Amino acid sequence: MAAGPRRIAIAGSTGSIGTQALDVVRTSPSGLEVVALGAFSSVDLLVDQAREFRPPVVALADSSRAAELRERVPEGTEVRAGPEALASLAETGAETVLNAVVGFAGLGVTIRTLELGKRLALANKESLIAGAPVVQRARRTPGAEILPVDSEHCAIHQCLRAAGSAASVRRIVLTASGGPFRGRKAEDLREVTISEALAHPTWSMGPKITIDSSTLMNKGLEVLEANELFGVGIDSIEVVVHPQSIVHSMVEFSDGATIAQLSHPDMRLPISYCLMYPDRGEHPYGAMDWAAVSSLEFEPPDLHTFGCLPLAFEAARVGGAAPAWLNAANEVAVAAFLAGGIGWSQIADVVAEALAVFEPVELRSIEDVLEADARARVVAEEALTRLS
Ligand SMILES: NC(=O)c1ccc[n+]([C@@H]2O[C@H](COP(=O)([O-])OP(=O)(O)OC[C@H]3O[C@@H](n4cnc5c(N)ncnc54)[C@H](OP(=O)(O)O)[C@@H]3O)[C@@H](O)[C@H]2O)c1
Repeated sequence: MAAGPRRIAIAGSTGSIGTQALDVVRTSPSGLEVVALGAFSSVDLLVDQAREFRPPVVALADSSRAAELRERVPEGTEVRAGPEALASLAETGAETVLNAVVGFAGLGVTIRTLELGKRLALANKESLIAGAPVVQRARRTPGAEILPVDSEHCAIHQCLRAAGSAASVRRIVLTASGGPFRGRKAEDLREVTISEALAHPTWSMGPKITIDSSTLMNKGLEVLEANELFGVGIDSIEVVVHPQSIVHSMVEFSDGATIAQLSHPDMRLPISYCLMYPDRGEHPYGAMDWAAVSSLEFEPPDLHTFGCLPLAFEAARVGGAAPAWLNAANEVAVAAFLAGGIGWSQIADVVAEALAVFEPVELRSIEDVLEADARARVVAEEALTRLS
């Protein structure tokens, strides 16, 4: 065990991952110390968190509410505000920064943490996917390290660690619950409502990732994430549907052996793994109750009904800025679906239309990534107008 508590910062502390991370801290008060918290605009919850955990620094991306935050946090708390405020949480005493921001907005936190040579507990897969070449360069900073919070990638991290080497990996198999529409056909899904798409069978998550799970775009983003994290090549990454969400992913080795990680679905386990690494947390989140498991099922994904998944493989094969385009178009389409502007099946149509006119550019800097993201959003908005 480390000498003192591990000092952590949480960007996106008011969301689903952020609040679960604070639950992990509650069960391990001597193992973890919160030195910074940050959110977009949820002042009430951030104030409650600041009063409970007493971090020296809190941050709010939406500066219009900073004055209110300053008035309500405990005396002596430093308040940072504005577009750079969350990324600046890496510039505190934190050893590990948990990036629990949703969407492309998490890019700054990812880059700044890695450039400072710190450990990044990464829930925000979108930043790694969209900014891949720039993030990979930052990841080579001495001391920098990414630990994946996504349960599938955390499972793979654990499988590789158990094996002791990544040298003889034959394939990585990402499991997918299949979401609320598993087994349904494209024709049945044209009229689904927002609340049906938000009703995930096994995980309770924020709205954006829940919609991504219903379209299997979340699995597509995870394929891209695995491609960046583990470097085995896109043709060595597969997806299998596993409705029970107990096998969180697996690695097959050259001799045919497969190592998997199993637990009942509870995001606090991968969060705890990343925050306590290289030690193990002491609370058994999601520990298996074997008497309660009657079967573990596996089936291939339906690539026709869930068109977002093959689009993600396509973006991975094109490489460069294509994953950034896929991610941006998806964010535009999901926001439009949640606002009632398009139907569920049109999410994949918007992404496909954007990728069809993809403009290749080299991503050498954050500015290049921001430009590619902005351009893809314009193209996706045009596709939206045509479709709606
Ligand atoms: N939820 C899960 O179980 C789960 C599992 C695996 C991976 N992930 C990944 O974890 C990330 C977070 O997901 P989530 O489900 O926790 O999302 P969420 O519940 O929607 O929370 C998002 C967090 O990000 C903040 N935020 C939103 N927009 C922002 C912006 N423009 N700039 C800065 N901060 C912003 C929010 O602050 P406010 O509250 O102030 O808006 C909130 O703290 C995503 O990348 C997701 O794919 C989530």
